[in-house]
Amino acid sequence: MYENFWGLREQPFGTTPDPAFLYFSPQHEEAFARIRYAIHSRKGLAMLTGVVGTGKTTLCRGVIGQLTNAKAAVILNPKNTPVQMLKDITYEFGFEHIPFYKRDVVAILRKFALDQLEIGNTLIIVMDEAQLLARNCLEEIRLLTNWETNKEKLYTVLLIGQPELEVRLRRIPQLNQRVVIRARLASLGEKETIDYVMHRLRIAGSPLFPFTPDSLADIYRYSAGIPRLINMICDMCLLEGYIRRTKKLDISIVQDVVKDLGGVLEDAKIQ
Ligand SMILES: Nc1ncnc2c1ncn2[C@@H]1O[C@H](COP(=O)(O)OP(=O)(O)OP(=O)(O)O)[C@@H](O)[C@H]1O
Ligand SMILES: [Mg+2]
Repeated sequence: MYENFWGLREQPFGTTPDPAFLYFSPQHEEAFARIRYAIHSRKGLAMLTGVVGTGKTTLCRGVIGQLTNAKAAVILNPKNTPVQMLKDITYEFGFEHIPFYKRDVVAILRKFALDQLEIGNTLIIVMDEAQLLARNCLEEIRLLTNWETNKEKLYTVLLIGQPELEVRLRRIPQLNQRVVIRARLASLGEKETIDYVMHRLRIAGSPLFPFTPDSLADIYRYSAGIPRLINMICDMCLLEGYIRRTKKLDISIVQDVVKDLGGVLEDAKIQ
């Protein structure tokens, strides 16, 4: 709606996990490298944790988008039974006719893995929101990471979740010990928050940088450096600038926006 006013190609502060906007803070870079290593070296099981809205899903999409000779099954809604979980994985790998019985689903996944390995493909299973996985699903994942040839694992499983995932895994040592690669994301620092805002504006084709230093300091303060909250505030600021027909987003605009978003910002920070 405001793109023309600001001279933008697209909205810079969407809330979808679009990897085209991926900004690499040092910790995002580190997490990216670790996950890529886990995949390339077929390490079996890796885990990415971080508080809500810090970029876990976006980062993971970024890693997967860069892979060649790899196939990924991404499971976004993990509140399921182990059998349903295996069926979802099979479906996400492109199978349309999923058998009813677990043993037949397992047979498909095994054969698929061996065939794919033979032609040099790596297989990744991503369980997003893995903190919601039922205990027996986590157990099934442990069994999946047992599948191997003499040399390597058949599947690399990437568990992504909020910090309580780490707490849950600690209660299941037989699974926790198999997590060979761990990566964490935290909120951004003040300078990173500013870089992040600039980066997203640049990717969206912005010809100018409308935020004043004061307003950036406030954006950091109110968002606590959490990218999703930064996006919400900045998006509303751009809208407000458009409504007021001003190209300078100063602290008064940020404060008005924050007042409107107040509850959302508080709720999001509490989670
Ligand atoms: N490093 C980053 N670069 C660019 N955008 C980011 C980055 N981190 C987060 N974002 C943006 O912040 C928003 C939230 O990111 P994302 O959904 O990946 O977070 P999450 O950690 O998966 O959250 P949740 O815990 O709710 O699943 C998205 O709009 C995403 O594009
Ligand atoms: Mg996510």
